[in-house]
Amino acid sequence: MISLIFNQIIKSSATTSIIKSHIQEMEKLVSSWCKNKPLPESYIFPPETRPGNLVVPTCNTVPVIDLNKAEGQNRTHIVQQILKAGQEYGFFQVVNHGVPENLMNESMDVFKEFFEMPWEDKAMLYSEDPKNSCRLSTSSVNYAREKIHHWRDNLRHPCHPLQDCIKHWPQKPVRYREVVATYTIEAKKLGLRILELVSEGLGLESRYFGDKLSESEILSINHYPPCPDPSLTLGVAKHCDPNLLTLLHQGDVSGLQVFNNGEWIGVEPLHNAFVVNIGNQLQIISNNKLKSVEHRVVTNSRVARTSAGFFIGPSEDSIIEPEKSLVDDAPFYRAFEFKDFLLHYFPNLEDNEVVMGHFKSQA
Ligand code: OGA
Ligand code: NI
Repeated sequence: MISLIFNQIIKSSATTSIIKSHIQEMEKLVSSWCKNKPLPESYIFPPETRPGNLVVPTCNTVPVIDLNKAEGQNRTHIVQQILKAGQEYGFFQVVNHGVPENLMNESMDVFKEFFEMPWEDKAMLYSEDPKNSCRLSTSSVNYAREKIHHWRDNLRHPCHPLQDCIKHWPQKPVRYREVVATYTIEAKKLGLRILELVSEGLGLESRYFGDKLSESEILSINHYPPCPDPSLTLGVAKHCDPNLLTLLHQGDVSGLQVFNNGEWIGVEPLHNAFVVNIGNQLQIISNNKLKSVEHRVVTNSRVARTSAGFFIGPSEDSIIEPEKSLVDDAPFYRAFEFKDFLLHYFPNLEDNEVVMGHFKSQA
């Protein structure tokens, strides 16, 4: 249908064929076909990984940390809370974090507006090539090769260095670039502040993570349309984040679950909070003093959910290894280049043991 209308609009042949293939591929976006359709077979997870019963315990929720208190005499206490949450849950939420509330709201609005735009405004960004610097895609990393599709559409782009990256960001909604540029600058500041608190807790100098280890910034915006059968599918299957630290703006619709003590627990949406989680690299550098923990996203049948992950990570040529002062006996991991981690991560991302096992030290 979309392709038919499209044929009538575009005349120039080179552009036509490029955009035409985008349009055909774009029809894979969950949001482009899902309305009033039953859940297709290809979205049904095997019984052992599907969420099934969606009622998850909430008594055991991840810690909420008030960053206002980090600037006064309670700083040591806040540092301890962060470390404890990083060890026990791999996750915590931060409130009073300094990113202005209107910027949080405006960014979420613009992310939602992006996905609500008509297909012709998004078509040029659709790509199945993970190397594209700004891409709209669907499901997980490789739609063509994966056995089961995930119930999500995704827009992702790097954010640093800003002046190079911003040229590739969406031109619509018209305020996207302006709002998102300010948002990513603020999110990076907050990320560095949290990393300083983490460094203090680990006994490292406060700028330890401040340079190449946090050079990469990627914004990944997820759109999960209402789903006809949330018990059979997932928005994102279980995984750990491969980077250093993630700041997630999950809006006000629940869906994120974290694996803790043998069960999945829901991360309650708190207005104006960020969900923070420890990435694989922070676990490795801290020699397991902090944990990167498996998490997943369940869908719901009532409303669309939009979330935005801001991934702070090392430059690809960074050498990653456990920090010597944090090794008591022997390091748990060997040294490696971050780009080699990513090469091993993507084909194995649903099995964190396999991912991390590859980088364990032999000693
Ligand atoms: C991710 C992720 C969680 C969410 O994109 O890595 O875990 O709530 N997203 O969308
Ligand atoms: Ni994640």
